[in-house]
Amino acid sequence: MTTTTSLTAVTGSVGTAHTRVEGRDKVTGAARYAADVPFAELAHGWMVLSTVARGRVRSVESEPVLAMPGVLTVLHHGSAPRVDGDYTGVLGRPDPIVACFQNDQVPFVGWPVALVVAETPEQAREAAEVLVVRYDEEPHDVDFSAGRSGTYTPQNSPALQAETGKGDLDAELASSAVVVDSEYSTPEEHHSPMEPHAAMARWEGGRLEVIDSNQGTTWVADELAKLFSLDPASVRVRSEHVGGAFGSKGVRPHQVLAVMAATVLDRPVRVVLTRRQMFSAVGYRSPTAQRVRLGADADGRLRAFDHQAQNLTSRVHEFVEQSASMGRVMYDADAHHTVNRVVPLDVPTPTWMRAPGEAPGSFALESALDELAEKCGIDPIVLRARNEPAAGPVSGLPFSSRNVLACFQEGARRFGWAERDPRPGLRREGRWLLGTGTAAATYPSGVAPSTAAVTAEADGTFTVRISAADLGTGARTALTLIAADALEVEPGRVHVRIADSDFGPAMIAGGSMGTRSWAWAVMAAAGELREQLALGGDIPPQGVTARSDTSAAVGALSAKERHSFGAQFAEVAVDTTSGEVRVRRMLGIFAAGRIVNPLTARSQLVGGMTWGISMALHEEAARDRASGSHVAADFAGYHFAANADVPLIEADWVDDPDADDPVGIKGIGEIGIVGAAAAVANAVWHATGVRHRNLPIRPDRVLLAGTGEATAG
Ligand code: MOS
Repeated sequence: MTTTTSLTAVTGSVGTAHTRVEGRDKVTGAARYAADVPFAELAHGWMVLSTVARGRVRSVESEPVLAMPGVLTVLHHGSAPRVDGDYTGVLGRPDPIVACFQNDQVPFVGWPVALVVAETPEQAREAAEVLVVRYDEEPHDVDFSAGRSGTYTPQNSPALQAETGKGDLDAELASSAVVVDSEYSTPEEHHSPMEPHAAMARWEGGRLEVIDSNQGTTWVADELAKLFSLDPASVRVRSEHVGGAFGSKGVRPHQVLAVMAATVLDRPVRVVLTRRQMFSAVGYRSPTAQRVRLGADADGRLRAFDHQAQNLTSRVHEFVEQSASMGRVMYDADAHHTVNRVVPLDVPTPTWMRAPGEAPGSFALESALDELAEKCGIDPIVLRARNEPAAGPVSGLPFSSRNVLACFQEGARRFGWAERDPRPGLRREGRWLLGTGTAAATYPSGVAPSTAAVTAEADGTFTVRISAADLGTGARTALTLIAADALEVEPGRVHVRIADSDFGPAMIAGGSMGTRSWAWAVMAAAGELREQLALGGDIPPQGVTARSDTSAAVGALSAKERHSFGAQFAEVAVDTTSGEVRVRRMLGIFAAGRIVNPLTARSQLVGGMTWGISMALHEEAARDRASGSHVAADFAGYHFAANADVPLIEADWVDDPDADDPVGIKGIGEIGIVGAAAAVANAVWHATGVRHRNLPIRPDRVLLAGTGEATAG
């Protein structure tokens, strides 16, 4: 029997580099992802997606397919069980794509119209590919452009601040010595997590059991319970390992279809998405059209600030990409206006994708700041320092901490910014033109209620249970370090079990809020456990367990403007003969709260910055106007930064603990991508003298625009 006297004071795990606790399992293949877990009697579902962009399903010709080897059933709007898609979940109304097969409506190419279930995945796939679906087609419209017909401003609501404004914009613009008025665009971009979406569902002992790959097991369990009108306690969702998500892994058609098929067949059914299916069935980042107007005094002080952003959504669900949000936190002006507009088209509904809003918004805004610096003839960092707000420009709230200038200062020192000649198009190295650029970053720092349980086991170890999700970020390891410090033991004595909805409600891995929210709950439960153990006595065989619920503590947080900040730096080389842009080095310095695990935190930030390079130079999903379909929905046609595209990237941070957080955490999941594309684009301007306001900065665009040097010559 181990007694409380074995609790020796060991702290200092938080802040120390620690490899992933499940790392060995992952590299040896012992870690099982959703599609890897074996089940007896497992059947396999294959999704059939619509090939037309608008219309109705006239018929699904199941008969010939049902005669094929191994085929068990074909589900479609005429044969599928009924579900209830009319509910409000924790993140609002569901995208109707998850209310599968409830009517014959087809709102875009890639809408699920049938599920073929067979004994093997190969049989299911073969049958799905020959299944004939007939449509009554209607004219469609997938043409996204700035200010096009149908664009509207959504209603302001607690969940969405569509528009903000103060002051007389026209008057301030008219009295400004310097004005920037530029339009920017970003293309449709996709999450493309390495692990495709997959779910297995079965009924076991009167409960629905789902093995899934998601960002929140209680979230998905709750949505499935609502869709199938089940008692939430009768649904269990697990998601032990996740190979990337980035906003795409909530409730999606494959989980719903697996549950439907498991119910109809009364046996376990797994549905795995193909890479191609992921381009239409799991959400994406909307293209954006943005206009930024800045009016300033000659010294760069802003008088007028206007950021107008527009994204598309589907005809069945409103999703607003809040690209205009960044300026509400970053820059004040006498007249200040921001608006996020949206236009419904015959396309899938976009969704959250790493730094939703801030990622595309920062490209436009931080490019415009660079244009203003150029016009004013002042250094871009000096310009930002000159416009540092004392409080939230729109909210009026004090910042919990705001160390953006410390990031610029440290970044400038390490990047060698002081030696930079601000004039563009001057540095040549063979056929390459060289340039450097910078941009600011910010992302909200939030926390949400969570519950956790910590058990002191009789063998002297501790078990933490929390329905957290580790998307590959290292969250499980971070929680191990946090629990170890809270219990004052070595991390090796702590076992963190996550991603099981039976552990009770917890925040999803999203909004850069996961680790912070879970850490808070783990801290609270560990503190409670220590109090119980301090009473003394032996630990019984079942251990001693303490539970926490942070709802009250989180709700009691004072009103402040809570954000992380950062400064991005990039050096590029532009090939004047091919138009190719190569990023040579990048540096990001962040003020993002206390860093729990420097090893995985750096990976998170470098990952975000890498994605920023990808966003700046490569990523673009092209949609064909005539068919309404993607031109090349695969990794041959959708290029993203690969090894050779990624140079030396450094990410580091300044001291910036959140004073109101028990650990000091702010959250680092998304800020790494913010501003990164703008830093690259600003460096391309510095290299060539040409502004690129449309992403990605493809070779053909560079050649077409020319370079300052070539034009001059
Ligand atoms: Mo992130 S886009 O909140 O998963």
